[in-house]
Amino acid sequence: LRVGILISGGGSNMVKLVQSMTGSHPARPCVVLSNRPDAGGLDVARSMGIPTEAVDHRPFGGDRIAFEDELTRRLSYYSPDILCLAGFMRVLSERFVQQWDGRMLNIHPSLLPKYKGLDTHARALASGDSTAGCSVHLVTPALDDGPILGQATVPIHPEDTAQSLAARVLVEEHRLYPQVLSEFVSRLAAGLPIAPADATNYA
Ligand code: GRF
Repeated sequence: LRVGILISGGGSNMVKLVQSMTGSHPARPCVVLSNRPDAGGLDVARSMGIPTEAVDHRPFGGDRIAFEDELTRRLSYYSPDILCLAGFMRVLSERFVQQWDGRMLNIHPSLLPKYKGLDTHARALASGDSTAGCSVHLVTPALDDGPILGQATVPIHPEDTAQSLAARVLVEEHRLYPQVLSEFVSRLAAGLPIAPADATNYA
């Protein structure tokens, strides 16, 4: 199975996903694509021997469909079977999401369904939560709303800042995402259902 990974920044999650797809793992990374030509993760992907593409969203202005059509065109060169959003900071339209229905995963730095959207760590701290974490979910048209495939929790310490909490959660993201992807592609390769009712917390 061929996995395309979409990033916007440093790509630390992308690195862990690429490093996990070796040996008997049924998937291989086929492309790393960013909406930012200057994304640091593109240089890292190239250093790992992964083909890269950059589709700058800015020339498209607010024309999300035109941007996504270019995204689809550039991805098509690599024939990905699955897309992994990894620090990808653009909202995707219902049309694009439905083209990848059931084959696009995202990692979100909160214990969904809590704290969909941005600034998740600051919000968890402001709410006085005692735990935080990250979630890998199937991408559906509504933002950060799809069936959850796996979650990891971390304790919140009294002296935590958003930065210290983000760093603790990121360590778990790097463990969770490869684990969930491995289970996901193994089930896909075996023809097992990934239906939402079936999306258990197998991480
Ligand atoms: C991380 O905070 C992650 O939670 C979110 O995007 C941020 C950057 O991720 N998905 P990465 O280092 O670019 O993978």
